[in-house]
Amino acid sequence: MIFGHTMITFKKIDNSNWEDCISLSVKGEQKGLVASNAYSLVQAAYQKNCVPLGIYFEETMVGFAMYALDPDENSFWIYRLMISAENQGKNYGKLALIQLIEYIKNHENATQISLSYKHNNTVARKLYASCNFLETREVIEGEIVARLNLK
Ligand SMILES: CC(C)(COP(=O)(O)OP(=O)(O)OC[C@H]1O[C@@H](n2cnc3c(N)ncnc32)[C@H](O)[C@@H]1OP(=O)(O)O)[C@@H](O)C(=O)NCCC(=O)NCCS
Repeated sequence: MIFGHTMITFKKIDNSNWEDCISLSVKGEQKGLVASNAYSLVQAAYQKNCVPLGIYFEETMVGFAMYALDPDENSFWIYRLMISAENQGKNYGKLALIQLIEYIKNHENATQISLSYKHNNTVARKLYASCNFLETREVIEGEIVARLNLK
């Protein structure tokens, strides 16, 4: 475990858990909202600033998150957050997001966290707003950019 203090914890993706990670998927109708975990792990393999993390409930991986330090902006981004279809609606996503924010906050020079989501992703939109992310007018690859100031 690298961090976590409730029943939800985070572990780095490594040789022991990458297959669990790529076996997780969202509901069919959510497929256009987030990249597959396999895609994200390939991205992390080549884009070295990405940190892919398994989200665990007790010993079971229930979701996936990936954050990165954007060297151009010197700002942290949450690139991915997903909870597997069968584990959604149990508050895991919210608990995971709160802990991920806390973890990123402890990095040196962390001044803000950014993320983006599709206009029609009402669950994510509400979830991020509940953790004080503010929508900007920026749109990246068709997604609304929202930012959380840490200072
Ligand atoms: C977004 C996501 C991570 C949320 O995870 P989750 O574990 O299902 O969410 P939680 O159970 O923690 O619920 C968080 C909030 O969303 C609400 N919510 C969850 N599922 C919902 C649904 N299907 N419809 C309406 N509200 C929903 C909850 O009521 C809760 O709100 P509250 O705090 O006001 O009670 C998950 O739905 C998911 O993986 N979606 C597909 C991938 C995705 O869109 N990722 C974000 C890309 S930017």
